[in-house]
Amino acid sequence: MVGTSAAPLAGPAATVVRGFRPGDAPAILSEMLAALERGEYEGMERYQLEHAAERLAPDPASSAVAVVSGRVAGWVIPADDDLHVVPECRRQGVGRLLVEAGRRVAAAQGHERLRLWVPRRPGAEAFARACGLAHTSSLWQMRLPAAGMEALAEPEFPPGAAVRPFRLGIDEGPFVALVNRIFLDHPSPIALREEEVRRVHATPGFDPSTILIVEDAASGAMVGFCRAHPFTAADGTPAGEIRLLGVDRPWRGRGLGRAVTAWGVAELRRRGARFVLLAVEGANERAFSLYADLGFGLGVEWPHWTAAALADA
Ligand SMILES: CC(C)(COP(=O)(O)OP(=O)(O)OC[C@H]1O[C@@H](n2cnc3c(N)ncnc32)[C@H](O)[C@@H]1OP(=O)(O)O)[C@@H](O)C(=O)NCCC(=O)NCCS
Repeated sequence: MVGTSAAPLAGPAATVVRGFRPGDAPAILSEMLAALERGEYEGMERYQLEHAAERLAPDPASSAVAVVSGRVAGWVIPADDDLHVVPECRRQGVGRLLVEAGRRVAAAQGHERLRLWVPRRPGAEAFARACGLAHTSSLWQMRLPAAGMEALAEPEFPPGAAVRPFRLGIDEGPFVALVNRIFLDHPSPIALREEEVRRVHATPGFDPSTILIVEDAASGAMVGFCRAHPFTAADGTPAGEIRLLGVDRPWRGRGLGRAVTAWGVAELRRRGARFVLLAVEGANERAFSLYADLGFGLGVEWPHWTAAALADA
């Protein structure tokens, strides 16, 4: 296990890979933002990196940190597909140690594989190959410009569907069950934990009206959702992201996916967004063609490479 006390992985030049400690967060965020400036987080927004860094302390077992001569030299955060080594510590074996640590974190989190985002750059791909990772799929960013937002009609929900905003403190249990059911056999499986969702919802400024819940009007069961997130782009433009949406299997093929996506766009438009982003797995052809049909265009590709998770003997 990669823990704060259990045998850390030691490499050359006084490199130690260990569990995350709360004091690591500022150094990690500052290097994330420097890497964003250098163009190494292509397609990512500043607020996404800030959220990633904020999520580390409440869940220290979700990441591992490389330390060289007492300073943070890199990290791996499997839940965010992120592995990074600071430029001055590259080509010293730090990344290789972080892949090992990431494989253990992934196993400890119940995953069969470690998945990492590997940009289409020769160095990064050579590194991934050298560490035994292989390309398995790609996540694509899609973007709906202002004109496309204006052109999109208000959502039309299929008969028998009732919509309402998320109820904080009440909906978390059934919501987590719904999301996990929907994403069970997805190309990028998601396994939410209820305490994680409650923690995010308890953060100051969290607005539950950015989550739409769809119920089967007859039974009251939750059958779909959409989570929209307004943000400000690097150049100051108000924008929005559709973070996640899904429709339960029995309700697929009735226009509910189209309706919840249109709701997300309309909601973000009401909040002033001038463009909308979302991310979709390339292998998810249904979702891909739905978003394209709604006017979303192709943006950045985030290739995913994976290796087997490594359970402790
Ligand atoms: C990609 C990255 C993580 C590599 O980290 P690193 O600590 O330099 O990697 P290592 O020193 O452990 O390299 C292990 C092996 O990968 C290969 N490799 C690493 N970087 C390489 C490069 N730039 N060109 C060619 N091969 C490379 C080599 O085979 C290397 O072994 P060697 O040095 O004995 O030849 C680092 O450059 C980085 O953080 N880049 C920006 C973020 C990124 O691309 N993340 C995705 C990583 S999955």
